[in-house]
Amino acid sequence: GNPMFLEPFWKQNAGSSGVMVAGWHRMGYEFEDGSLISKQLKSVIHKLHDTVGNANTSNKYILFGAGSTQLLNAAVYALSHHTPYSSPTKVVASAPYYPVYKSQTELLDSKKYKFSGDTSSWKNKTRSTSTSTDFIEFVTCPNNPDGHLNKAVLQGKFARHVYDLAYYWPHYTAIPSPMDEDLMLFTLSKLTGHAGSRFG
Ligand SMILES: Cc1ncc(COP(=O)(O)O)c(C=O)c1O
Repeated sequence: GNPMFLEPFWKQNAGSSGVMVAGWHRMGYEFEDGSLISKQLKSVIHKLHDTVGNANTSNKYILFGAGSTQLLNAAVYALSHHTPYSSPTKVVASAPYYPVYKSQTELLDSKKYKFSGDTSSWKNKTRSTSTSTDFIEFVTCPNNPDGHLNKAVLQGKFARHVYDLAYYWPHYTAIPSPMDEDLMLFTLSKLTGHAGSRFG
């Protein structure tokens, strides 16, 4: 996962890739319209996905976090549904899965959600109308660690999906068609290899 294989590229292109940032740049917490992300950055992100053809971002909101790691949990928090009468939302992923899904969900322990292991063990349970348990499934495409182009396993009204598309770029995989999911995560760590800059 450490993207150091991209370092020689940036060294070879050091002159043309350098950026000078003025000392007064971007000092406030927010922009004049209250937004936390600049209009230029948003439009560059839309343009990038349009050019590459890996995601349909039209009519979608762009949110950012300190790497996609922070957004993985933001997504779980936002999609989990818990009332005093329901059990915590089950968070699942298809084995073999990126271990941070489990470790982070357990670390940021909550009454709203609970990491519940491999997706396949719950496959038939979401189809049953008698269950009122909600599921959040991480769909990793291509998958870390095996590179498979995973698809969602759980279906039905109790299942929600977080598409982790960290590696859905042409320098890692063929791109058969643009993804067009409700919630898609990308990260600078894998796109350009700037993992230390923490931008998801
Ligand atoms: C599948 C997958 N998702 C997310 C991440 C986290 O990336 P970030 O540096 O954006 O937090 C990684 C990092 O290895 C990853 O392999």
